[in-house]
Amino acid sequence: MKISAVAALLIAAPLSIQTVAAKTMSDEEAAGLFASTCGFCHANGGREQGKGPKLMGTKRSDAFIINRIRQGKEGSMPSFKDALSDGEIRGILHYIRNLKPD
Ligand code: HEC
Repeated sequence: MKISAVAALLIAAPLSIQTVAAKTMSDEEAAGLFASTCGFCHANGGREQGKGPKLMGTKRSDAFIINRIRQGKEGSMPSFKDALSDGEIRGILHYIRNLKPD
């Protein structure tokens, strides 16, 4: 009885730590954040060109995308470094990488 309780703890503890580390933002949360923050310019959830370019299938590196979101682009895209946390930016990057045609 006692031993199995300890075993359960040993198994459960690393799993819950992993869950916390991996879980910054759910895909739904990232999609909602993208829609409300970026969707005005990046049309159809980033699947099509609008005022800003299509993001689905982008060949840009993670570093480029993160940097563009943080810094924006003078005259065309606002900077989001004060508006979004690093976790939110990573969530949006993950969202962009997983975009599929609808
Ligand atoms: C006011 C309109 C606007 C908003 C809001 C906006 N963008 Fe942009 N975005 C642009 C424009 C315009 C460009 C093209 C900039 C250029 O000329 O390189 C761009 C470029 C980008 C690029 C680089 C694409 C490439 O391949 O060069 C990424 C990534 C991006 N935006 C992501 C986002 C994300 C994520 C958000 C929300 C957090 C966002 N944008 C919000 C207008 C916008």
